[in-house]
Amino acid sequence: MAPITRICEVAGAKLNLALHVRGRRPDGFHDLDSVFAFCVDGDELYVEPADTLSLAIAGPFAAGLSTGEDNLVLRAARALHQAWDRDEPARRVMDQAMGVPRGARITLVKHLPPASGIGGGSADAAATLRALTALWDLPDDLQVLHRIAASLGSDVAPCLMGQPLHVQGRGDEFVFLHDRAYHHWPVLLVNPGVPLGTGTVFANWDGVDHGPIDEPARFEAVARGGRNDLAAPAIVAVPLIADVLDALLGHDPVLVRMSGSGATCFALFASAAQRDTAAAAIRAAQPGWWILATRLT
Ligand code: C5P
Repeated sequence: MAPITRICEVAGAKLNLALHVRGRRPDGFHDLDSVFAFCVDGDELYVEPADTLSLAIAGPFAAGLSTGEDNLVLRAARALHQAWDRDEPARRVMDQAMGVPRGARITLVKHLPPASGIGGGSADAAATLRALTALWDLPDDLQVLHRIAASLGSDVAPCLMGQPLHVQGRGDEFVFLHDRAYHHWPVLLVNPGVPLGTGTVFANWDGVDHGPIDEPARFEAVARGGRNDLAAPAIVAVPLIADVLDALLGHDPVLVRMSGSGATCFALFASAAQRDTAAAAIRAAQPGWWILATRLT
């Protein structure tokens, strides 16, 4: 088999089609009831064989991001390395014999705005776990990957799956959703250009449980009866979010909602043409806003 020269993974943007906050937990996190869906577009992650681990960040949102050990991509890489004990002498000999690299040159091309409720950092970490599992020729053991993912952040494990999920607990318990209506929607993502810290928005949640998602298995029910309970505290912090929601509502979408802790909002449309018309109009009216026209997986 020819040696691997480069692997590319897309870290697709994560959307919360509904995000119901059920209560504060003793560990400081919140219990969630959420439906996650993923976009076909997002950040790009490239890994190439190398003796040591390194990270470079490029792309429109590279500025200000750390390439140090605190970066979730490097933390994911180190956690995967440790999980399979790749410094263990027997493994070292085996890797050498098979020509498997022990490090990786990682390049992250950052297309998604950071701190924007669409799981950028989590999706990047999940993409790192997938890409390095292939590069280092590790067993594709979902249990191990899930454990590492959950240790890195609340929604890294769902991002590893990259398909529609009903998510509960802190964000790391999930089941797959099989309703075909969850897939392929043309979608527009809009962010007013203001980063918003997840912790701050959760801390300002009003503490009222408005109930679970009634029928998470059915797209129709989630679209009709779902909410984002973090929208109200996010709008208090960034009032522009209400303008983004209004702008999207003006184009006859199937569903409009804020994602995660904001500030990115999204709209699903019945056709790609409708989505593109909305994108052009919003872009013309608000040239400073970030806009991504894409579709669900
Ligand atoms: O797990 P993650 O690092 O993504 O979470 C970021 C912050 O968001 C946490 O420190 C916590 O303040 C808040 N959070 C929460 N409840 C969750 C997920 C996140 O309160 N279920």
